[in-house]
Amino acid sequence: MNPGLVGWGHCEAEREGPTATRSSPFPGAESSSFSALGNLHRTLGRPTPRAYPEVPLRKPRGRARRFTMATAGAPRRFCRCACFCSENLYVARYGLHVRFRGEQQLRRDYGPILRSRGCVGPEDFQQLLEELEQEVERRQRLGQESAARKALIASSYHPARPEIYSSLQDVALAPGFLAAAEYSTVPGADLQGLLQRLETVSEEKRIYRLPVFTARFCQALLEELEHFERSDMPKGRPNTMNNYGVLLHELGLDEPLVTPLRERFLQPLMALLYPDCGGGWLDSHRAFVVKYAPGQDRELGCHYDNAELTINVALGKAFTGGALYFGGLFQVSMCDPRGSASGSWECPGLSPAVLQAPSALAKPLEVEHVVGQGILHRGGQLHGARPLVTGERWNLVVWLRASAVRNRLCPMCCRKPDLVDDEGFGDGFTREEPTTVDLCALT
Ligand SMILES: [Fe+2]
Repeated sequence: MNPGLVGWGHCEAEREGPTATRSSPFPGAESSSFSALGNLHRTLGRPTPRAYPEVPLRKPRGRARRFTMATAGAPRRFCRCACFCSENLYVARYGLHVRFRGEQQLRRDYGPILRSRGCVGPEDFQQLLEELEQEVERRQRLGQESAARKALIASSYHPARPEIYSSLQDVALAPGFLAAAEYSTVPGADLQGLLQRLETVSEEKRIYRLPVFTARFCQALLEELEHFERSDMPKGRPNTMNNYGVLLHELGLDEPLVTPLRERFLQPLMALLYPDCGGGWLDSHRAFVVKYAPGQDRELGCHYDNAELTINVALGKAFTGGALYFGGLFQVSMCDPRGSASGSWECPGLSPAVLQAPSALAKPLEVEHVVGQGILHRGGQLHGARPLVTGERWNLVVWLRASAVRNRLCPMCCRKPDLVDDEGFGDGFTREEPTTVDLCALT
């Protein structure tokens, strides 16, 4: 069986809590979180991280090169789409993502596919129903629980490698990464020039690879993450598909590590590589480390990310297996325009016709991980992870988001987003467009 056919769906973020008044200098960081981070740094005797300079590292040059002023002006308020609590509920046992509005709708939309996958008796269906109801309740509680975890970690956790929580320094980054990012900021830089500074994994799929962190930094970050894992601190799931790993914003690593990585380095790179996918308008992210190990998660079903663009960096440790595989591009045209009334078999929003001929998953491209290196791809590129064979694999995944793109269409429900105020970066939606975006340049 083509492994891509199993679990084809969406990889979604877990959510943060209700909106709070923000006064943080960080984009999307609400005041209490920022204070908590400050408290953590004071507890640890470290300086509170400073605000980073504005995003643009290059001057706009024409219509396709306008950048979001992500940190300019007042802090922005981010939102999520209300679909999170009713769409894309992942049922690993049957390899399905489902929309769930109630028992009748579930029977109507998914009865045949569920039966074909082993949900045959009334007790099977009843168990599934209870699991889905619990999942909806869990998603509704996520915000409060995430905020509580973050506060507890900020007040009580003692890092093993406190230097990780200092502002990202160039010394942590691989020379090749620095060179590619620096090139991307110089006047006259273009795609062809950048492509000479990174590896093109697939020209057709627009998948690229380049070194990101030094081996020394990977080691230090892993030590810190393992220390956190061994601690008695509460841990959240990285996303709706991975069960093991670390949410970097809960650990307090967004502001010192991920935000500068996005703003100073990834933004100029992505602007050249993916100008049509919001690469030049990235204004938020979702970052987590996923862990694969025997007895824990070992593989990941085929899915697309709730992100415009993704970077996936292998941190270690020693492992075999676990390659990424890539199929075709999930496109909005695959969405079923009839919306919730129609449903579909594999995942809501996908047309059954598409699923009967999933050419997008034929002959997937396999890409081996290299420790320290990052894979860049479009969030909509269908992908998954082959089973781990030996060892442990830890990867940093950053979902990069451009509100200018997603405000027009939620990639999870394929509809105009039904906005709900959220904490932090939410799911990257905003009620207002970024002021500098030229929408005509977005396709
Ligand atoms: Fe993914």
